[in-house]
Amino acid sequence: MTIPDPRLLDAASGARLNAYAPYSNFKVGAAIRTLTGHIYVGCNVENVAYPEGTCAEAGAIAAMIVAGETEIAEILVIADSPSPVPPCGGCRQKIAEFAGQGATVTLCTTDGKARDMTVADLLPGVFSALHMDRA
Ligand code: THU
Repeated sequence: MTIPDPRLLDAASGARLNAYAPYSNFKVGAAIRTLTGHIYVGCNVENVAYPEGTCAEAGAIAAMIVAGETEIAEILVIADSPSPVPPCGGCRQKIAEFAGQGATVTLCTTDGKARDMTVADLLPGVFSALHMDRA
């Protein structure tokens, strides 16, 4: 069984409480630990024009970038879902931009379930800058 890092779990759980999700009622929190050991958090922020909403992972990445960091060592995502919540497709690509293929992504539920995956597990065949080598 996966036992989440308590600091990351606390950080993501706290961020989730501030999620703005009046349309889906599905609050999500995310916490990133960078290679320097700092933690950055995000929550989903919805919008009445639905596609303009942003995911928790995107918020945590934005906070990391604002702080001048670019290297994700580990990321944890939490929601009140029946099974450990996985990042959406777009967030998988966003995470892969700043994390190595072996970086841990911990998927959690608010009732204590957790599952560890790697970035490579979540996004096999990732599109990378190497694919633009002839451009
Ligand atoms: N959501 C996230 O924040 N992260 C994910 O990876 C999955 C989905 C949010 C987006 C939207 O606000 C709500 O969950 C329902 O899709």
